Formats: sequence, C-alpha cells, structure tokens
Amino acid sequence: MNKLFSVITAVGIALSMSAASPHTGRTVRIATDNTDLILKVGDNGRLYQTYLGPKLRHDTDIELPEWWQHAGSDGAVTRRGWEAYPTAGTEDYFEPALGVVHADGNMTTYLYYVDSSTEPVEGGTLTRINLRDDKYPLSVTLNYVVYPKENVIKTWTEISHSENNPVTLPQYASGTLYFKEPEYWLTEFSSDWAKEAQMSSQQLQFGKKVLDTKLGTRAALHAEPFFEIGLNGPVRENSGQVLMGTIAWTGNFRFTFEVDNVGNLRVIPGINPFASAYELKADEKFTTPEFIFTLSYDGSSQGSRNLHEWARKYQLKDGGKPRMTLLNNWENTFFNFDQKLLGELMLEAKDLGVDMFLLDDGWFGNKYPRKDDHAGLGDWQATRSKLPGGIPALVRAAQKAGVKFGIWIEPEMVNPKSELYEKHPDWVIEQPNRDTYYFRNQLVLDMSNPKVQDYVFEVVDNILTENPDVAYFKWDCNSPITNIYSPYCKDRQNQLYVDHVRGILNVLERVREKYPDVPMMLCSGGGGRCDYGALKYFIEFWCSDNTDPVERAYIQWGFSQFFPAKAMAAHVTSWNKATSIKFRTDMASMCRLGFDIGLKELTADELTFCQQAIANWKRLNPAIMDGTQYRLVSPYESNHMAVEYVDNGKNMGVVFAYNLAPRYREPQSRVRLQGLDPDKKYIVREINLMPGTQSAFAQNDRTFSGDYLMKVGLDLFSTDKNTSMVVELSAQ
Ligand code: DGJ
Repeated sequence: MNKLFSVITAVGIALSMSAASPHTGRTVRIATDNTDLILKVGDNGRLYQTYLGPKLRHDTDIELPEWWQHAGSDGAVTRRGWEAYPTAGTEDYFEPALGVVHADGNMTTYLYYVDSSTEPVEGGTLTRINLRDDKYPLSVTLNYVVYPKENVIKTWTEISHSENNPVTLPQYASGTLYFKEPEYWLTEFSSDWAKEAQMSSQQLQFGKKVLDTKLGTRAALHAEPFFEIGLNGPVRENSGQVLMGTIAWTGNFRFTFEVDNVGNLRVIPGINPFASAYELKADEKFTTPEFIFTLSYDGSSQGSRNLHEWARKYQLKDGGKPRMTLLNNWENTFFNFDQKLLGELMLEAKDLGVDMFLLDDGWFGNKYPRKDDHAGLGDWQATRSKLPGGIPALVRAAQKAGVKFGIWIEPEMVNPKSELYEKHPDWVIEQPNRDTYYFRNQLVLDMSNPKVQDYVFEVVDNILTENPDVAYFKWDCNSPITNIYSPYCKDRQNQLYVDHVRGILNVLERVREKYPDVPMMLCSGGGGRCDYGALKYFIEFWCSDNTDPVERAYIQWGFSQFFPAKAMAAHVTSWNKATSIKFRTDMASMCRLGFDIGLKELTADELTFCQQAIANWKRLNPAIMDGTQYRLVSPYESNHMAVEYVDNGKNMGVVFAYNLAPRYREPQSRVRLQGLDPDKKYIVREINLMPGTQSAFAQNDRTFSGDYLMKVGLDLFSTDKNTSMVVELSAQ
C-alpha cells in the first residue's frame, strides 16, 4: 500500500469517522422527471440508497428519518444492506457489487464518501460520486447520467488504486439497486438460434436468481442482456410499476437478483466475473459497462417508450437518421452466386423499389474460396473465380442498377482453412495443448491482441479505401469463444473475456471515428448480439434468422421491450412459405423493412404488392421509425397481435394487426388505440392490400375522433389463421 496515502487518509477518515462523518446526512439526488434515486451518507460516512421510486413531490420528504435502519428478522434494527455500491468483507453478508483482493491479500473493502459533482451532458446530467477506502488507496467513482424527459438513468463505475502491487478484482458490477416490495416478478428473455427474446416470468423468492452468459462473443445466444421486474405483481403492459434494465456490454454479462432475509431485493448488473478475476495495476482505471434502466409506473409499454425515445436520441448510432430498405441475397442464393447473378439481383432490388442491395457471405477467399462455411473466413479478398471484377465491379453494377451497395463481413473470426490462420495461428483463441472444438467450423480471433485489432480494423478500412461508395456493412459474428486460451494474454488468461470485448469496442470506435457516415448492421448468427454497448456503433441489429412471420411475432414483441423499431432489422423471406407474402411483409414492416427473397419466386401481383408495401412503409416512416410505439395486443396473451405507431405530431399513425392462431368462431374484441390526439379526427384506411382484393375492414375509410378510437376502438381481428391487416390513420 502507498504509505503516504495511508497516513493521510487514515487521519482523514479517522477524523471523519469519529462521532460522525462530516458528510453524514449529505444527500445526492439523482432525478428524472418521474423518478427519484436518493443516496445518502450515513453516520458512518458510507453511502446508502434511501429511496428509488416515483419522484417525490416535496423536497423535505427526501430527508427521510432513520432511513438506513431496517428491521432484521429478529426485529432488531440493522443497517445491513442498501449500501450504494456494496463491497465484499463488510457487515453486509449478501451479494456484493465489488470484490477486491488488495496487494497484501486482504479481501475487505470499505468505501467512504469523499465528494460528488454534477455536470451537464448531452440530454441530461452526469453525477459523479467519489468513494474511497480508509485503509487502502483504492477509489471508486459511481457515475449516474439522468435523462429527465425520457426517464432513463444509466450508471457505471470506475475503480482505481495506487497500491504498491496490482490488486485483483474478483467482482466489479456496474451498480446496485434495492427495492422493498411485497413481491418481485422477473420477466426474463431466453434465447437460442432462431428463437430469440422469448419472454417468461417467475416470482423471485428468497435467495438468488442469476441471468448470465459465458459465451464471450455471440454472447446473447442463450440469454438476452435485459430483464424486467414487476414490483408488487407480474409485469403488465399498461399498469403497474416495472423496472426495465439492460447492460451495454457485448460480452459476458450477469444480472444477479437477490431477495434477502427480510424480503429486500437487490439487483446487481455487470460484466460476468466468471473466469475473469481482473488484475488491476496501480493507476490503471477499470471502467465497468453502463447499466441502463427505467422505472415505469404504467407498465412495460411505457417503459419501452422511455427506452425507445432515449435510444434514438442518445445511444443508437444514427438514431435520428433515416434507414434504407434493402434486398439481401443470403436466403436466396446462399454461397451460390457469381458476378453476373449479383448484377441481376441488383436490378431486381431496383425493380422491387428498395434502396440497397446487400451482398452476404461467400464473396471472399482465393487459396481457400468460401464456397461453404468450412473455409475462407479471414481472407477478405474477393474470390477471383466468382467475382473477377472484385468489389469495384459490384459497386459499379449497383450504381448502374440505381441502388446502393452493402456488404457482409465477419472480421472477428477465422476458419482454420484460411491464409490468415496459416500466417498467424497465434492470433487465434485456441487451446495450445488440447483438441480444438469448432463452432460452425470457425475460431475466434484474439481481440485482446492490439495487432489483431489493427487487422480487424483494416478489414473495413481496406474495403472502404478501395471502394468509398460501399454504403453499408453487415457485421456478423457466428461463433461464441471456444477453446478459451489467448497466446497474447499469456499468464493473464483470466482477463481475456474482458479484454477481448474491449478490443472489439476499440476497433468499432476506430471505425466510427474514420467512417462516421457508413452505417453497419449488427448480426450474430441471427440476434446473438443486441446490446446498447455495440449499438453505439451500429444503426440496427438483425433480430433473428427465423423470419417465419408467426415466430417473428414473438421475437419482435420481445425485442421491442428494449429496442425501437428503428434498431430492429426484419426481412421478408421464404420461411413459412405457406403463409401469404402479405402476411410476411406486414410482419417485417413493423421494423426496419428489408427483403431476402428471389423476385422470380413472386407472381406479378405479389411483386406489385411488395412494391406498394415498400412505398407505404417509407411514407409511414415518421410513425414507424421515428414515432411512438404502442403494443396493443400481446401474442403471449391472445391468439393475435396488434402494434400501433404514431408520429410525433399525432397526425399519422399505423396499426399492424395479426391473426396468428385464432380458434374456430373465437369472439373478437375491438382493439382500442392509444397515443392519439382525442380531439383530432382521423380517417382510418386499410393499406397493404393485395392487388385486386377489397378491404374487409368494417370501418374502412371512415373518420373517427382520436377519443373514439382510444375509447371504443376498431375491429381489426378475424378468425382467419395467419392473416394480417394494416390500417393507416391520417389526421384531417
Ligand atoms: C448468420 C446470419 O444471421 C445470416 O443472416 C447470414 O448472414 C449468415 N450468418 C451468413 O453466414
């Protein structure tokens, strides 16, 4: 330990600790328009959460008496728990946020309030609270940014020290929140390939529930990095208090929910410390990822709107910019294409009326051409036999066809059958002394290695240097980290999971810095990556390879809890071809619309329908992409789904209504709309009709007040399985 520091702080803290800390009673109020998070310094000089909930009306109420005291199971008053950032080794025996093994081996840490400050940041205010151990030169800064209008708070922590030798951090959460309610109901989002964001709910009882991932990359393959907690009852759409939280970390995360002996709940979000005890050298700073949360007092629907609004303004890349519609070739051709065929598909894209043609996997590799998923990853030169003119010829062909050109890459990965692997086997995460396990025949590059970071950056940089007109990247990531061992990390293997993600973020930062105007889609074997850490660099993510419209209803409903439609890419494909092209297109139209289908598969009427649906979608962009979303009818609670979008001026709206699996003669309820101006008159008109068909919508082309539509509603459902209706609302 640094001796001078220990003398000075020991004296300082000893003074502050005698009788009462000079900071005792000091209050830090972290407030949005609707929510208060109140932190206070106790008589021991440590910082406690005293309140988190609806905004307190009277400032005097913030000074709650004896706020740190809670009755223990024996009735005795205790101050256990509720420490703003609980540490290991104190009198609190429940889950800590921070664990430290100091340079001398001591495993305890006590943090005392030092000072705090606030400063304006884009969209809100940052509060920084400095805490320090009294016996060790170890400092922690708690950061909270409030976005008042959107009612979103994000919090993260910085840890540093000046001990004589490195300290080890076995745990380093982003923050801690406490609740005291009679019941806690967790909604979790389980996931898998083609089965992303599936919602289920359970009551939290005494003890711990953990949601986590240990996959390294493609981290959200089995668990999404977000959750909801119904406070005093299961989460409901439009009523009740709900906490909605998500972590901005594109790697291993962990949410711990612990109900203690007296029924308090603590929520500890952070990087998953599994196999990741982090060694922190003196004067290095460990910054945790942001934990983003909102509290809604009107159910999850309002919480989602808080997050959608916040994300588009402050977190999602290009949240305020328009999105391009596109034609992708993956499902249409897989690896089987050449320059001529791509040229034809670009003309099809133009004919369809989309903005861009997106070339997917299979365009690269010469020594080991990428003709399937066994070879070529890592060798990012166009395959000469397939594409003799390389990317420049494809860009020219797209220009000639009158569409933009986008391209697929998977730059963090390598096939053992590649020139890259042959040249740089030491750039790969792989066991030195065990058999290799392959996931999709590939391995993960070691992003903790700065040389590998340079290489990955150059994949994008080289393409854009040679082809400045490449307008879009689809950045894929199909494998979790397998065979965890980094030749670069040597004896610091336990830092690999963290440093690997930092390496990815470093590359993404460089890409954004040099190419701020080139949009990228985040993809990970479907929706295996969807976090607000990566989405600072990506304008959208690919929700799932499952584009069966029935399954998509659930997937999109799940992701919409945390992401605006603008961040969610959805394509019309041939999955579940038994359903109509209309049903498939209507389902994709509630996100960023694209197509991944051969036009030759479509009849003339179907093509006309798609062209009109694209034009409708573009016209409705102020509502779907930039407006407010109302989830009206849940596929989890009915045999239908309905979702409404309204533009910011409440002049334009659209309702997507889907009949998924209605029962024979099932009675249909009217659907009450939301978010309209009660005093405006709206014409309601069915759009996205197949050519030659008449609308069967009972209220078609009639005018109603917003008040009527919200109180009485519309007859949007029928008993016809796998059908849909899209209704446009136009204010008069
Ligand atoms: C997985 C993605 O989810 C697909 O859309 C496609 O890009 C393939 N990878 C290509 O290998």
